[in-house]
Amino acid sequence: MRTPRLSQKTTQQIKQIYQALDYEALGPIYCDEGGDAFWEDRREPCQKMGITIGKVLKARLPPQGRSLYVGAGVPEIPVLLMERLELNRTVCPYNLRQAEVDILNQAGEGSGLSFCYGSAETVTGMFDHLWIVSVLNDPEEFPNLSVLFSYGRADPLAFDTAAFSHEREAGILLFANCMAKLTTPGLLTISVEEIPWIVNWCETHKHSYHIDPKTYPTALVGDPVCFIRIE
Ligand SMILES: C[S@@+](CC[C@H](N)C(=O)[O-])C[C@H]1O[C@@H](n2cnc3c(N)ncnc32)[C@H](O)[C@@H]1O
Repeated sequence: MRTPRLSQKTTQQIKQIYQALDYEALGPIYCDEGGDAFWEDRREPCQKMGITIGKVLKARLPPQGRSLYVGAGVPEIPVLLMERLELNRTVCPYNLRQAEVDILNQAGEGSGLSFCYGSAETVTGMFDHLWIVSVLNDPEEFPNLSVLFSYGRADPLAFDTAAFSHEREAGILLFANCMAKLTTPGLLTISVEEIPWIVNWCETHKHSYHIDPKTYPTALVGDPVCFIRIE
């Protein structure tokens, strides 16, 4: 599949939003300490890698559909703008961090992008594209799940197995509630670490799926993303 380009208008808007972001306020949201240095280092890769994924997605999505983004933040800006400006699609980005949503909306004022504070599970209507990238390794929402499955740093003696079981059920439910909003055939953009959750859902709900073997690096979490077609 040939990778399309993004128009100058889109790349310009992406640049403008990244320039307008309040990195000082974003620092403590993303890092316990060293937020300034973190954003100094990561803001450029966020744009570059986001644009790369945006181009790849442009070739895979039809115009005028709807996309649901679970846990969308700074790295998702280029892809969201690509969808709106290049494909005239509706995008619904959700995030559970109110402070981050406010910063993103302030920076994106006038661009037509609007982030929503709350769970993506609450959105109404159907979508032909679902984006779930690095959500279950969120240390705030899923502390035990993330420490075990993403970071591999669980202490076998102190690990809270009851809390883990509870989070695993919450993760299964989150995927089920979001997948219920996906029309079929539909497209998923997902981090590689989260593939088992989708495979579990597809097998439980008797849907066939095709995982594109090519993966794309991301700028913040370090977990690459891939595309899955759900039939
Ligand atoms: C580890 S961050 C990843 C952010 C971004 N996707 C990235 O790759 O850098 C996880 C994000 O998922 C969000 N999140 C977790 N559960 C969610 C839910 N049910 N609905 C919307 N966002 C959710 C959290 O608020 C957080 O912003």
